Amino acid sequence: AYVITQPCIGVRDASCVDVCPVDCIHPSSNEPGYEEAEQLFINPDECIDCGACEPACPVTAIFEESAVPDEWKSYIKINAEFFNRG
Ligand code: SF4
Ligand code: F3S
Repeated sequence: AYVITQPCIGVRDASCVDVCPVDCIHPSSNEPGYEEAEQLFINPDECIDCGACEPACPVTAIFEESAVPDEWKSYIKINAEFFNRG
């Protein structure tokens, strides 16, 4: 699965949401919790690894799980936990 990491915090550009073919990036602007969310998250159970979101992010916050930089590895768990997984 792809993972959203630290650079998203406070930016929350949401270009990734628009390009995801399976709508697995949350919370989107029409969902509860969007206003309070500091960053968005990818549901690892729904992501199909298409890679479309990665170049769409203006702050390079999105990485394939195996390519997440060491300092942001904790975000793999943080994304999963947002969906009560992991
Ligand atoms: Fe959505 Fe594809 Fe990004 Fe996964 S890799 S979150 S399916 S756009
Ligand atoms: Fe965040 Fe980048 Fe998406 S800033 S909301 S991961 S486009």
